[in-house]
Parts: sequence; structure tokens; C-alpha cells
Amino acid sequence: MNPISIFKAAIAGTGSYVPEKILTNKDLESSLETTDEWITTRTGIKERRIAAENESASTMAAQAGRRALESADVNPDQVDMIIVCTSSPDVLFPSTACFVQKELEAFNSAAYDISAVCSGFVFGLSIAEQYLKAGRYEHILVIGSEVNSRIVDWSDRSTCILFGDGAGAVLLKRTEQKEPVGILSTHIYSDGSLSDLIAVPGGIGKTGINKQDVDDKKYFIKMSGNATFKVAVKRMSDVIREALEFNNISIEDVDHLIPHQANQRIVSAVAEKLNFPEEKIFMTIQKYGNTSAASIPIGIVDAKGKGKIQKGDVSVLGVVGAGLTWGSAVIKW
Ligand code: UT7
Repeated sequence: MNPISIFKAAIAGTGSYVPEKILTNKDLESSLETTDEWITTRTGIKERRIAAENESASTMAAQAGRRALESADVNPDQVDMIIVCTSSPDVLFPSTACFVQKELEAFNSAAYDISAVCSGFVFGLSIAEQYLKAGRYEHILVIGSEVNSRIVDWSDRSTCILFGDGAGAVLLKRTEQKEPVGILSTHIYSDGSLSDLIAVPGGIGKTGINKQDVDDKKYFIKMSGNATFKVAVKRMSDVIREALEFNNISIEDVDHLIPHQANQRIVSAVAEKLNFPEEKIFMTIQKYGNTSAASIPIGIVDAKGKGKIQKGDVSVLGVVGAGLTWGSAVIKW
């Protein structure tokens, strides 16, 4: 059922940041038993960005957040809440969002992180949507930011080739506009019984940081690629279908699908299942790889930059990530 509210959660601004350094598939050929051809055909990725030594999830998030505020013409002190979605935080605590708040001087905000891995941004949007539609807040900054290059095992060719660094942000604004606008819906889900599929399994609170886990490289991403692939296709298709049904719209009414960028073949399989025309799907994977929680907002900013998103357009977002977590959102621009 559609929640009845006089308020809507409009997208007032967007911004992204990717590090300058580009690591191509060709570059990886010199350190790994892999080829540009394998990576391109199995994943769609050609290159990814790698954070500089002085960059981290918080610095990239602050850059993306600042750009979102500037594009919305909103001052940092008008921001009521900063939600940073990251699985590669600067430190265990304080939250990365608190560092971002300090950097932006957005001291009137409640700032905190959420951990839903690749699904983080859609989970963050869903939280922001509730606060805005309830009338509680006026401006919420949702940022996905990841420095995956620091949590991948660069000797594991089955995972390290997939990931990249970057950040993307949206500034959401409460509005009383009558016509449908902004976030029309969000659907988010988790299934902890699938927690082994993708994880950074090294103990922190459970066992304490320990040498055995360090030696076993358990503080890096471990993934059952094949099993994740199959689950990802099913969950993403189902949750996108649910979003369309909830809004009573068909694929013809959708202008673009901006999916999480984990693997070109996952997105193509989802498109095939849903009969979604490939030309309506916006991909950035070839340039950035999988930037986890940052991948959808980076996609939004790239699509806007290319003039693909116009006022009144309808976008569907879809994601699956570790946890397992998955979700979708529908946005009317
Ligand atoms: O962000 C959300 C979560 N992540 C995902 O959704 C990722 C989901 N999974 C995937 O994208 C794919 O499963 C991968 C890209 C990770 C792997 O592709 P695949 O087609 O499932 O390959 P595979 O794991 O079945 O491996 C096939 C072969 C293996 O060799 P053998 O055992 O057949 O001899 C691998 O060792 O490819 C080998 N391989 C590689 N070869 C060259 C694995 N990685 C590489 C590599 N270069 N980088």
C-alpha cells in the first residue's frame, strides 16, 4: 500500500567523486594470471579507479557530498542528516559520516553510517525517504562511498579484478508538491542465511583482531562468485518487478534502469528476465568496476552528465549485495 503523506522526498542535488588513478585490465595482466579478454567478457569491466594514499571513504564521500549540496544550492548547515553507506569505513568508529560532517561543516546534522554493502545506497535512500515523508526533516544527504582497493586481496584474481573506488551522493529535500515526484518507492530486504556468499570474515568483535585471520587473509573480501551470481539475478529481477507492480507502472513507463554494477552479465540476465530493453539500461561498469554502495549514485551522476535524465523521467534502481541484501527504488525526476 502507498503510504499517505503530504510530503514527498525529492532529489534536489547529486554529486560524485572518483579518484584520478586508473587501473586497467591490461595493468592487472602484469601482476595476475588474468587477461583483459577474460575480465572484459566475464564481467564487462575495462578499468577501475584506485584511491590515492591520502584518500579514503570519508574524503571521497565529502567531495561527492559537497558537489551534491552545491548542485542543489543548499548550505551545509541546512543539512539535517548525513547517511554514509559504506563497507570500507575509515576506522571501526567513529562513523565515516562523522568525518564527512566535520569536513563539510554540516554541524546541524545527525551523521551516521549504515552497513548494507552494495545495497547500502538503496537502504540509505529508503531511510531518508521515511524521515522526509514523515515531515521530520527537510534535507538529508545520502552518500555511498567505498575504498574497495583496501579490502581486496590483490593476489586473488577472482575478486580483485571486480572492484573499484569512488563515491556518489544525493541531497534529498522534503517537498509538498502535489504531483508525484522524487522517491516514489523503496523496497529493501535481507537474508542473513546467505551471509557466507560474500564477506570480509576476519574477526573483530567476535574473536578480536587476530594473527590467524590476518595470515589467512580474512580481512579481505571473500566471495563465492558463481553462487552469488545466480542469487543476484533472481533477487534483482524479483525486487524490480515488485517496484513496478507497487507503482502500477510497466517497463514502457520507465525511462532508465540504473542498476548496481557488479557484473555486466548479471544486468543482462536481469534485463532478459524482465524483458527490459538494453538501451534503457545505464552502465558504468566498464569505467569503474564494482564500487559497491557508490555504484548507483555514481551511475545517476554519470547519466545526468550525459543528459540522459530529464525532468519528469522515471528511473528504477536495483541492487543485490553481501548480507545478503537487496532492494529497488523508483525515482521520478
Ligand atoms: O556486488 C555484488 C556481489 N558480487 C557479485 O554479484 C559478483 C557475482 N559473480 C560474478 O560476477 C562472477 O561469478 C565472477 C566474475 C566473479 C566469476 O565469473 P564466472 O563466470 O562465475 O567464473 P568462475 O568463478 O566460474 O570461474 C571460471 C574459471 C575458473 O577456472 P577453472 O576452475 O574453470 O579452471 C577460475 O579460476 O575462470 C577462472 N578465473 C579467472 N581466469 C582469468 C577466475 N577469475 C579469473 C580471472 N582471470 N580474473
